[in-house]
Amino acid sequence: MEEYILGIETSCDDTAVAIFSSTRGLVVHKKATQLEHGIYGGVVPEIASRSHMKTLLPLFNVVMNEVGIELGNLSAVGVTHGPGLTGSLLVGLSFAKAIAYSSSKPLIGVHHIEGHILANAIEEKMNFPSLSLVVSGGHTQLIYVEDIGRYEVVGSTRDDAAGEAFDKIAKLLGLPFPGGPAIEKVAKKGKRDAFDFPRALRGSGRLDFSFSGLKTAVRLKVESFDEITPELQADIAASAQEAIVDILAEKSQKAVESFKVKHFYIAGGVAANGRLREEILERIGSLGVDVHWPELKFCTDNAAMIACSAYYHFLYGHTHDLTLNTFPRGDIESWR
Ligand code: KG4
Ligand code: ZN
Repeated sequence: MEEYILGIETSCDDTAVAIFSSTRGLVVHKKATQLEHGIYGGVVPEIASRSHMKTLLPLFNVVMNEVGIELGNLSAVGVTHGPGLTGSLLVGLSFAKAIAYSSSKPLIGVHHIEGHILANAIEEKMNFPSLSLVVSGGHTQLIYVEDIGRYEVVGSTRDDAAGEAFDKIAKLLGLPFPGGPAIEKVAKKGKRDAFDFPRALRGSGRLDFSFSGLKTAVRLKVESFDEITPELQADIAASAQEAIVDILAEKSQKAVESFKVKHFYIAGGVAANGRLREEILERIGSLGVDVHWPELKFCTDNAAMIACSAYYHFLYGHTHDLTLNTFPRGDIESWR
């Protein structure tokens, strides 16, 4: 029998709904990105939750109509319940609870980071044990994945996330939000070695990251010029991107060497960065390790990754009841 698993993602500024089928895999995924935040240069939580409230029900109806199924055809309801913005998470979780209750189907809470990791399982089978580098606007972590549902965080950022660093540096350079894609585009015209920006915690022997010093170094560099010409902007963008990519790739290589895995998965919004993928492929691929990343549309926040994760929870009989709550922060934990 074909099982349909619903996935809902509202942890930040994207409202997304998807359906994963036990026989056909991903059948539909829709996402509405909130553009209201652009003028503020970052996500405004109150605007985000209001926007989710307006968008979620119509998006859900579009998804159900497209697949041609009704509430009774769903086998389980998956939803991101954290980490993220509380108001935004609550909109998704309350909606998911209502669907689960009215259809008498199990509710499945998915950790947002598990969603990013398992974005790699949407279109192909993942191999274990493996390591995953999760790099997004809110997270920078190296996670040892023994199997689906079995996770151990082995490295984390001590301050800013890599995506946050991209966003803040973009702002300093007068580039639009989100900063990652803007920096990547401008950096193509610049010299990677124009400026020697710091690589924090290099050679510390640990797998931790720190990006707040880089942001300060870029600010001081920007302030040292009377005017930021397009050439200068491109050189600073390329050099800053290189500093981020370099340290992410170096720590990833160190992790692969110490955990001796044969498979490495990049995930999260920053995995969309071509220079990062190129550098990781070069450093880790040369060790005989298979390097994978999700299709671009599944790197940034989406509901396909949540529906796919929820499908695995369902398969292993791991479900929640209606007392499930949201959580603003917290590491991924094993559930098997
Ligand atoms: O995973 P995501 O969509 O949301 C969070 O869970 O945070 O990641 C968003 C982050 C933003 O910081 C954005 O600047 C960054 O991913 N990002 C990129 C690129 N595309 C998105 N960073 C570098 N290069 C990119 N091409
Ligand atoms: Zn995310």
